[in-house]
Amino acid sequence: MSSLLEIVLLQQQTVKLLLGILVISVAIFVATAATEVSNSSCNRTCGSLEIPYPFGTSEGCYLDSSFLITCNSSSSSNSETSTPTPFLRVGNIEVLNISLDGELRVSTYIARDCPQESNYNFNNRYTSLGLREFPISYTKNVFTTVGCDTLGLIGSFASDKNSTTGCVSACDSIDGMVNGSCSGIGCCQTPIPNEIKDFIVSVKHSNVSEFNPCGFAFVVEEKAYNFSTLDLQNMQDKEVVPLVLDWVVGNQTCEDAKKNTTGYACKAANSECYNSTNGPGYRCNCSLGYHGNPYLSGGCQGT
Ligand SMILES: *[C@@H]1O[C@H](CO)[C@@H](O)[C@H](O)[C@H]1NC(C)=O
Ligand SMILES: *[C@@H]1O[C@H](CO)[C@@H](O)[C@H](O)[C@H]1NC(C)=O
Ligand SMILES: *[C@@H]1O[C@H](CO)[C@@H](O)[C@H](O)[C@H]1NC(C)=O
Ligand SMILES: *[C@@H]1O[C@H](CO)[C@@H](O)[C@H](O)[C@H]1NC(C)=O
Ligand SMILES: *[C@@H]1O[C@H](CO)[C@@H](O)[C@H](O)[C@H]1NC(C)=O
Ligand SMILES: *[C@@H]1O[C@H](CO)[C@@H](O)[C@H](O)[C@H]1NC(C)=O
Ligand SMILES: *[C@@H]1O[C@H](CO)[C@@H](O)[C@H](O)[C@H]1NC(C)=O
Ligand SMILES: *[C@@H]1O[C@H](CO)[C@@H](O)[C@H](O)[C@H]1NC(C)=O
Ligand SMILES: *[C@@H]1O[C@H](CO)[C@@H](O)[C@H](O)[C@H]1NC(C)=O
Ligand SMILES: *[C@@H]1O[C@H](CO)[C@@H](O)[C@H](O)[C@H]1NC(C)=O
Ligand SMILES: *[C@@H]1O[C@H](CO)[C@@H](O)[C@H](O)[C@H]1NC(C)=O
Repeated sequence: MSSLLEIVLLQQQTVKLLLGILVISVAIFVATAATEVSNSSCNRTCGSLEIPYPFGTSEGCYLDSSFLITCNSSSSSNSETSTPTPFLRVGNIEVLNISLDGELRVSTYIARDCPQESNYNFNNRYTSLGLREFPISYTKNVFTTVGCDTLGLIGSFASDKNSTTGCVSACDSIDGMVNGSCSGIGCCQTPIPNEIKDFIVSVKHSNVSEFNPCGFAFVVEEKAYNFSTLDLQNMQDKEVVPLVLDWVVGNQTCEDAKKNTTGYACKAANSECYNSTNGPGYRCNCSLGYHGNPYLSGGCQGT
């Protein structure tokens, strides 16, 4: 129990440090209100990613700066193929997929604790994500810890709401572990609280053994991760996992947003407004019987 307490205290110290970093990264990103409407000369692809409005890669092509996608053609992860890599805003969060249904899939790092490693790095026990505008989907993602005698924690720290949750996986051999099932033996999962935008993950692994040298923790799209006993070694060399964000427009309700017709994002006739179900903000949808992009005027076409 004392070591559990120790890591919680340790985490709080690190959190203060990381909070400083989050605040800095947020400060660089100053919201620029944009009234431009998507223009036909906009480049709507980056590598294999399709980028529908309200997202965009250059000024005049996105709704406001929270929808900026930075397309980096010299990014390291794809250097051999030189495929451009899309990032969310001006950061290092890689974008995997954008859906007009309000989902944004990004890639996040796995926190790892491998005390026996010759180049052991204490800092790898922590990962963080600072998104500011878009909350993490609490219906699509799950917090996951992999390893034996491994404690994983996820903390979220905002001026109005703080939370810490996590799970412990305890076991002394591979017996009882089931591939494809995160049963609490070798792998445990716990839901993500709603309205979380920034989080810090930490992991602590003890009782190191040959079958289980490391512990891991991460937030992952639930259907994108299946536990395998092979993950106990080194997550099969995976460094990142996909995570789903619930993207929204602004921080108002539909009713308040509609009061300002220039700022209202549901531009298409035959479109409807939905309040976000994961914090403030709203989204748009084509009315029943219409399809297309409700954020563009004339974007919803009848079938
Ligand atoms: C759009 O941007 C991508 C990545 O920068 C580039 O490969 C592609 O040629 C561009 N397309 C057009 C039509 O400019
Ligand atoms: C693109 O990626 C490279 C390598 O990661 C980095 O050095 C460079 O600063 C990035 N450029 C932009 C515009 O983000
Ligand atoms: C993104 O998601 C859409 C809808 O779910 C899918 O049709 C598309 O193939 C996905 N694109 C990529 C690059 O995964
Ligand atoms: C959340 O934690 C941060 C950092 O420890 C603190 O500054 C803030 O006041 C806390 N917020 C609440 C609502 O307790
Ligand atoms: C460490 O694992 C061994 C078996 O592998 C077990 O007997 C022992 O109780 C464990 N120690 C702790 C502190 O969990
Ligand atoms: C899980 O799958 C891997 C690879 O397919 C296999 O090597 C391992 O023995 C399996 N573990 C269990 C508990 O079935
Ligand atoms: C996980 O396992 C299920 C059932 O076996 C399978 O349908 C799914 O494709 C797997 N997902 C991944 C990401 O491997
Ligand atoms: C809502 O967004 C506006 C514009 O970005 C900002 O000035 C305001 O502080 C936000 N309000 C809240 C409650 O976050
Ligand atoms: C309406 O929205 C536009 C664009 O976001 C903004 O420039 C303007 O200040 C808003 N007007 C009011 C009265 O809030
Ligand atoms: C949006 O939320 C507000 C405040 O909770 C509520 O009054 C309104 O009816 C909601 N609008 C829609 C379209 O659901
Ligand atoms: C938006 O419309 C699509 C297609 O009609 C539908 O599948 C989806 O459930 C709608 N979304 C909401 C939030 O109603």
